[in-house]
Amino acid sequence: MRKIYIIGNWKLNKSFNEIRTFFESFNDLLKDDTNLFNSNEIVYGFAPTFIGIPYAGSLMVGNTNIIAQDVCERGNGSYTGQVSAAQLLEHDVKYCIIGHSEARKFLGCNDKIVNAKAKALLASKMIPIICIGESLEQYNNNETKAVLLQQIKTIFDGISADDALNCVIAYEPLWAIGSGKTPTLEEINSLSKYFREVLTDIYDKNVALSMPLLYGGSVNENNAKSIVELSDVDGCLIGGVSLYPEKFIKILKDVK
Ligand code: PGA
Repeated sequence: MRKIYIIGNWKLNKSFNEIRTFFESFNDLLKDDTNLFNSNEIVYGFAPTFIGIPYAGSLMVGNTNIIAQDVCERGNGSYTGQVSAAQLLEHDVKYCIIGHSEARKFLGCNDKIVNAKAKALLASKMIPIICIGESLEQYNNNETKAVLLQQIKTIFDGISADDALNCVIAYEPLWAIGSGKTPTLEEINSLSKYFREVLTDIYDKNVALSMPLLYGGSVNENNAKSIVELSDVDGCLIGGVSLYPEKFIKILKDVK
């Protein structure tokens, strides 16, 4: 059976105190629902800032994953300001978001760098959550498919089928992030289907059907269920709403 992925991206939010109060309430809500607490059908977790990872890791219970928001594409060495896959692994981080549009906008990330980051994670047996997405201008110009095709081709260049089986794609239209706007359900599902076609061309049907495809951008406690119910969508990447334990728990219960 396919697993559902519900991934919270905390971005540059939460002090130590706020991380503690988040988990006090999230853990209580989680323990109240034994089905959810013991569930292996949903892969869920939160991506704090790097500095919050060890603390969040010490507070989480059940099957909660602590996820990274980025990784350096290089191994340990003279790379000021970076964090390596090996260091994340030391803190039991298994999943790492790469290529988020904010990292592209503010940190100079691009598809070639995402490709290198994916390879670095895969070499460490970690699972990249690879973000792709078009701008509003590209969407309005009907360039969405062409843009996403190019992104997927560049990002998966030189990645074997075996490694691709350990990747997750998160489709996040730039214009939907933090805006309260989302594509229609039909648009989301038909793009997911398109990604499976592209992955079939690059690899084969097995990779295309096995790879979890997430949607992100203004997902909330009211629309998550209908998105996850789409035939070709395997979960959501959630920003703002993941900061609230009650809302995140509602989403987990709804999609279960
Ligand atoms: P949002 O962010 O849910 O606040 O729109 C999503 C994301 O940036 O991953």
